[in-house]
Amino acid sequence: MKIAMIGTGYVGLVSGVCFSDFGHDVVCLDTNPDKIAMLERGEVPIFEPGLETLMARNVGAGRLRFTTDLATALDGAQAVFIAVGTPTRRGDGHADLTYVMAAAEDVARAATGYVVIVTKSTVPVGTNRRVGQMVAAANPDLDFDVVSNPEFLREGAAIDDFMKPDRVIVGVQSDRAAEVMADIYRPLYLRDFPILTTDLESAELIKYAANAFLATKISFINEIAALCERAGADVKEVARGIGLDGRIGNKFLHAGPGYGGSCFPKDTSALARIGQEHAVPQSIIEAVIRVNDAVKLRMVEKLRDLCDDSFNGKTVTVLGVTFKPNTDDMREAPSLTIIPALVGGGARVRVVDPQGRREGEALLPGVSWHDDPYTAAQGADLLVILTEWNEFRALDLKALATTMATPRMADLRNVYVAADVTNAGFAAYVGVGR
Ligand SMILES: NC(=O)c1ccc[n+]([C@@H]2O[C@H](COP(=O)([O-])OP(=O)(O)OC[C@H]3O[C@@H](n4cnc5c(N)ncnc54)[C@H](O)[C@@H]3O)[C@@H](O)[C@H]2O)c1
Repeated sequence: MKIAMIGTGYVGLVSGVCFSDFGHDVVCLDTNPDKIAMLERGEVPIFEPGLETLMARNVGAGRLRFTTDLATALDGAQAVFIAVGTPTRRGDGHADLTYVMAAAEDVARAATGYVVIVTKSTVPVGTNRRVGQMVAAANPDLDFDVVSNPEFLREGAAIDDFMKPDRVIVGVQSDRAAEVMADIYRPLYLRDFPILTTDLESAELIKYAANAFLATKISFINEIAALCERAGADVKEVARGIGLDGRIGNKFLHAGPGYGGSCFPKDTSALARIGQEHAVPQSIIEAVIRVNDAVKLRMVEKLRDLCDDSFNGKTVTVLGVTFKPNTDDMREAPSLTIIPALVGGGARVRVVDPQGRREGEALLPGVSWHDDPYTAAQGADLLVILTEWNEFRALDLKALATTMATPRMADLRNVYVAADVTNAGFAAYVGVGR
């Protein structure tokens, strides 16, 4: 099977590499010539564990190529995947479909034989039908089908998620397209991973409903965490106590500084907007978004309390700025709200992150970057754990306490046990919901 993958970001590149590992002949296309040049040199433009090795293996086997030329990508392709960005549109919270529509139109004009146009990007319900109409208008003679195949991979575990998915969702309109999709995913089908075939609209909504549900769990536990703090309970115990109930489950019940990343913020916002447009307000999701915004500000107040009510003149060391560990993705990271509040309040902010610097440097002006937590903590007034990279899970707390001017810790991911921190010499320890 020859496949073209349009867009080589987190989703397009991982999907393209994994499809080539299934044995398909894949050409990945991007409009960004720098990205394609890097990929042709064997370099991966993003940080994603395992991706570079898998990519090299499939390039070496002759199954994976990169190009900026659409005709090369489409030559002989039976399926064209669109995996371009769908960021939040400025002003109204809707998903910006400019890139998806532009890519589909390019494909419509360049394709010759029967082709299945597969949308992997997260798009609002109704988009695939619109893509179909647009393609038909742009190239009335083209024989094609449109398929919705939303992606559920998690950054940091993307290859495993793609190769061993909980499910694959395929929204189709014709048996012919369903057969092409079955061929593409046959390696997963043979290993009994669930492949759910639906109509286009259901597939589109499954993606938003899944992300919205996970975001709801996070906002729910974050609100319970605030109550725990007032009532003297420990949210870790509460989360464990409810998570052991099989109907609830223990995943996504970690209290923290709010969700971020390239998906939850924009997808919750888009779902709220979709609901409004269909005159079916998604009031739960609207509340989830409000709670998440409030949580980040609550974290700033927590830090201010620890700094004797003023950041002015304080030195604050922040460990972790990416939206979660094992990615270099900074999109909508809580650090982008919390750190500017520190800098704006007059704090000197030192930052350590194993992968965040390349993206983060432009996004976080006024901070200094360090490689080592211990050097960064020298003479500091406050240590903040903002992203729970493994590197920050087993710090030498005594060494840190000795080196800091006033050893105080804000553990916004509840990595440490309060008594261990204070026994090591910290004067103050604050977690979330404890
Ligand atoms: N990042 C994730 O973890 C994740 C997970 C599931 C779903 N998604 C969805 O997948 C989609 C892609 O997300 P991403 O994070 O990979 O985006 P990204 O911003 O990392 O990458 C998008 C890529 O598309 C390229 N591009 C844009 N227009 C193009 C065109 N016309 N032709 C060729 N290339 C073009 C850009 O240059 C960029 O390299 C989004 O809809 C997102 O919601 C993302």
